[in-house]
Formats: sequence, structure tokens, C-alpha cells
Amino acid sequence: MKKIIFAFVALASLLFASCSKSSQVVKMGTNAAFPPFEYTEGTEVVGFDVTVSNLIARDYGKQLQVVDMSFDGLIAALQAGSIDFIAAGMTATEERRKNVDFSEPYYSSKQTIIVRSDTNTVSSVKDLAGKSIGVQSGTTGEIYATEEVEKASVKSFKTGIDASLALKNGAIDSIILDELPAKEIVRRNPELKIIDDDFFTDEYAIAVKKGNTELLNSINKTIQTIKENGTYQKLIDAFMPVDGEITILSADEL
Ligand code: ARG
Repeated sequence: MKKIIFAFVALASLLFASCSKSSQVVKMGTNAAFPPFEYTEGTEVVGFDVTVSNLIARDYGKQLQVVDMSFDGLIAALQAGSIDFIAAGMTATEERRKNVDFSEPYYSSKQTIIVRSDTNTVSSVKDLAGKSIGVQSGTTGEIYATEEVEKASVKSFKTGIDASLALKNGAIDSIILDELPAKEIVRRNPELKIIDDDFFTDEYAIAVKKGNTELLNSINKTIQTIKENGTYQKLIDAFMPVDGEITILSADEL
């Protein structure tokens, strides 16, 4: 009898632990190949979006769990409920708004062009006509290259970093990618350079499942608070230095 009671107690506490655990966690989906917003440092996913997400989770009263996956699978994962929000330098586009709800924008970016340093035939996006362009699958860069650049042959990669390898070995002529990840790639690869041309602006926002207003309101509140209390600026200064290395600033240090 004792054994049965013991087994029952053990089972009950196990069930309780797993239930309470799942309800204490909020899951953030991202694609950690997009520095300084999200990237890996050893086995850990770090970056501006990760720290902001930790602050979001803290305000929401839950533990953050980061789920790293391919960028083009994030919206489906959100709709399926396997993640609670997306923080991935994701541009709030009208097309995506059909499937998700977006927070207030938290960062303004633009698309940039990367070419090899010895390329001198490209000075604006128009010069990419007829050339091969590498992009990250499922991104605004991919849509722009496909829809706006004449006769381009668009090659989609899993990450912008994969595209940069193809550019270095001559498999493609150029890349269209968001500004800061592009700058970070070029900083690490002196044989590549950025072409300055303003052709597309991105407003990054956090996505939640359509109708999840409780979480969305909480996220918007966190964004507003960090903008007002100086934390946002601290994060910009650490993760987006004008020149040089990124400093990882974690939520615990704030
Ligand atoms: N801003 C672009 C978009 O929304 C690219 C984002 C890519 N993000 C990432 N974590 N890989 O399409």
C-alpha cells in the first residue's frame, strides 16, 4: 500500500510540475543568424531581440524560452501555437498582418546590398538588374529582389550568413539583406563591401498570434517602458556600436 501511495504522490507531483512549468514559460521564436538582433555565442542564443524578449517575459511574469528555427517557418509555428511570439528582426508588412498581430515597431532598418570588394559595377539597386542576388528565404529582401529587380536571378538561402559564403566563393554576384546584419557580415569579411543605396525601409515589430491581445498589450507596454526609461538606448549602444564589437547586454544586467 505504501508503495502505491508513494507512486501516486510521485506521479501527481510530476504532473503538477509539468503543468506549472509549461504555464510559467513564454516561448519566443527566432532565427539566430541575424546579428546583432539574434545570433549564437557558443550554444547560447543572444542579441538585442533576446534581451528585449527577456524583459518582455519578465514583465509578463514568465520565464523566457528561446526557440531557434528557420525564418520562413516562424509564422506557421506561431499560428500552430508552438511559440507565443516572434522576435526576429521581423518587418511588420501588410502581407504578414493578414496572419499575425504586430506590436508597435521597435526598430527602423533598411535593406542594403553586399558585393565582393572588387566589384565596381554596382552603385545602386538598379545595377543588380540581370545579376544573381542571394537572399534569406522568407524575408522582405527576398520579396524585394524577386518583385522589384529586373531580370534578377534570385537565390534563396537558409540564412544571410549562408548567402555570404556563396558570395565569397563566386556562386552569386550580390546579396540583399537588412543593414545591421549586412554590416556585421562585412565587418567579419573584409573581402566583401556594402553599397549604400536607400531603396527599402523595414520597421521591425514583435508578432503574436492573431487575437492574443493580452500578450500583445504586455509587449507594447514593455517596449514603451524601455523607450522611456533609457533601457532601449542602453541596448542600442551595446548591441549596435557605431564601430567595432558588439557588447552583449543581458536582461539581468539591466
Ligand atoms: N527584416 C527582414 C524580414 O522581416 C529579415 C528578418 C530576418 N530575421 C532573422 N532573424 N533572420 O523579412
